[in-house]
Amino acid sequence: MKILGAEFIKSCGAPEQFPADQLPELAFVGRSNVGKSSLINSLLHRRSLAKVSKTPGKTRAVNFFTVRTSDPDLPAVSLVDLPGYGYAKVSKSVRAQWGPLIERYLLDRRSLGLVVLLIEARVCTEQDKLTIRWVQSIGRPLLVVLTKADKLRRSERERSAREARAACGLAEEVPIVLYSAETHDGRDALWGEIRRQLKT
Ligand code: GTP
Ligand code: MG
Repeated sequence: MKILGAEFIKSCGAPEQFPADQLPELAFVGRSNVGKSSLINSLLHRRSLAKVSKTPGKTRAVNFFTVRTSDPDLPAVSLVDLPGYGYAKVSKSVRAQWGPLIERYLLDRRSLGLVVLLIEARVCTEQDKLTIRWVQSIGRPLLVVLTKADKLRRSERERSAREARAACGLAEEVPIVLYSAETHDGRDALWGEIRRQLKT
């Protein structure tokens, strides 16, 4: 699959600013610093379309991107980079973690076809588990990406997916993809899962 074009559309601090929802949409959620913006750049074959930082809390607004691909099943898709949770303070409710902006986005967005939840390989926090349960409770299809796979030894990779499934309490039908935004390992597998999820 080739990327024919990718562009940044808009950065939104309030729901009224969200662009009209026309294309099938993917939302990227997860802890601050887990690698959401890096994953978007890697998927889009771009270096810094989404802003990446070593300091957690870089992405503060809801950022929309679109991509056109050579895949007839996925001619155009919208990607949404959301602010991370778990940075400012530990809190028990999803609303307090993120604020109403993201809650409203995930609840109301009609074109949202898939929530891509990122966790760092070997670390599944209480907030990750809470978020997974909440996303499933609102009926959104979920896919889990284990990020920074380049930090794992080859021999650890398969085990880490099994361990993450157990640690996060993920049912067999939730796909898990190992990914490295540094080496782009996992890119074809992730696009394949995205295609499959958006088709159904
Ligand atoms: P917020 O916007 O703060 O929520 O963070 P984010 O989830 O968008 O993370 P971001 O993509 O900004 O990456 C955070 C840090 O992790 C940066 O220093 C990245 O270079 C690093 N990083 C991201 N992906 C990978 C990866 O696959 N491998 C390695 N080794 N580092 C990565
Ligand atoms: Mg970010």
